[in-house]
Amino acid sequence: MTIIKSYKSQNLNGEILIPGDKSISHRALILSSCAVGRSTISNLLESEDVYSTLKALKILGVKIKKNKDNWHVYGNGLGSVAGFKGLLNLGNSGTGARLLMGLISGCEAEATFTGDESLSKRPMKRVIEPLLQSGSQIVSEDNSLPVTVKGSKIPLPINFSSKLSSAQVKSAVLISGLTSSGITNYYEPILSRDHTERMLKFMGAEIETINFQGKWKISMTGLPSLKNVDFKVPNDPSSASFPIVSTLITPNSKIHIKEVLMNELRIGFIKTLLEMGAKIDVINKKYSNGEKIADLIVNSSKLNAVDVPAERSSSMIDEYPILSIAASFANGTTTFNGVEELKYKETDRIIEVVNNLNKLGIKASSTKNKIIITGNNNKVVNGGIEIDSKLDHRIAMSFLCMGFFSNKPIIINRAQTIQTSFPNFFESMKKIGGNLVK
Ligand code: S3P
Repeated sequence: MTIIKSYKSQNLNGEILIPGDKSISHRALILSSCAVGRSTISNLLESEDVYSTLKALKILGVKIKKNKDNWHVYGNGLGSVAGFKGLLNLGNSGTGARLLMGLISGCEAEATFTGDESLSKRPMKRVIEPLLQSGSQIVSEDNSLPVTVKGSKIPLPINFSSKLSSAQVKSAVLISGLTSSGITNYYEPILSRDHTERMLKFMGAEIETINFQGKWKISMTGLPSLKNVDFKVPNDPSSASFPIVSTLITPNSKIHIKEVLMNELRIGFIKTLLEMGAKIDVINKKYSNGEKIADLIVNSSKLNAVDVPAERSSSMIDEYPILSIAASFANGTTTFNGVEELKYKETDRIIEVVNNLNKLGIKASSTKNKIIITGNNNKVVNGGIEIDSKLDHRIAMSFLCMGFFSNKPIIINRAQTIQTSFPNFFESMKKIGGNLVK
């Protein structure tokens, strides 16, 4: 077991390197395996979650090789995993598991999906229900892993209206629809991250998003000829959120982060932090492979409480744990609305955030869909507690960041889970002055 302790830090300064985006890395591997020919991916996130997807694709027969800093995926076209029958262990990765269920459901293949202790508790009904429409057979005892997907020989296009805004479900449906001969339609109440749509469009698929009767309708024409591509993965805003909040709460700090993905559907947390009074400058805005990117300059700031609307939750769904740390030091009571989906992440993040903040002396409570935190107006917390990550990388990193403004250290047990998304977190945070000890 890895234990990491975080101690009060003097100030954070300098440039921090942020790894490639996790969502885009999974998609770059999976979608380029559906193209014909060699795709080259640079700045792929080399973390455990992405390796789980990469290993699963290799087991499915896809040739993937690393050459210097680039990854080459030798795609064999749509439906090329047909004939496969076996086990795919996706470790901690919900994205890998759900997107690959979509891939299998659209091919004459059969895979049993398994995962670690955390992934095995996560709900799969949300993805099983729409994928059944493709004609595939899906077996699971209680709608959680292990799940066996027996794909359809002649996959039907799915027409599914989701109550959730989940990019994993949407992407599973679209990936399944690639091999069907009709139009796949997916509806969601609030637009979730659209990397799959952007990447498929970039590769030549016909795909459009419109507002239809109060919902977002995403339509894709099946059997596209997907071009092999050269793809540079932008840096992950979700990983950047940890040094950003650490800098805001640590006095006399200033950091610089380059080429962060600025997709509007991912940066609700920056919008929220700006509303709280955070000093974050967004400079050098440009486009890379159809996605917006920019550099960020972040300064320590005095933060005020905010009321974050439910409509924003999908664009900051992974950042609530670290934003809860920002809210703990703000002036006033912050309310995060519409957060019920946090219950289904790597842990029940509503419970983990509230319980751990309470242990640290911060007033926090929750209802089914709200987290309410009363900030201490910039007072150092006492610290001196141990927290089990419960295999949730974002809980581990968030509370380590809180330790930078604590009198006694905050100790995270099972901190190895950080490898899931931010393998160099320890070294990178130390380099800018974060007082972490293993
Ligand atoms: C992801 C979508 C989100 C997010 C997860 C990554 C993706 O999950 O929380 O970390 O890459 O599609 P949901 O689809 O469950 O909202």
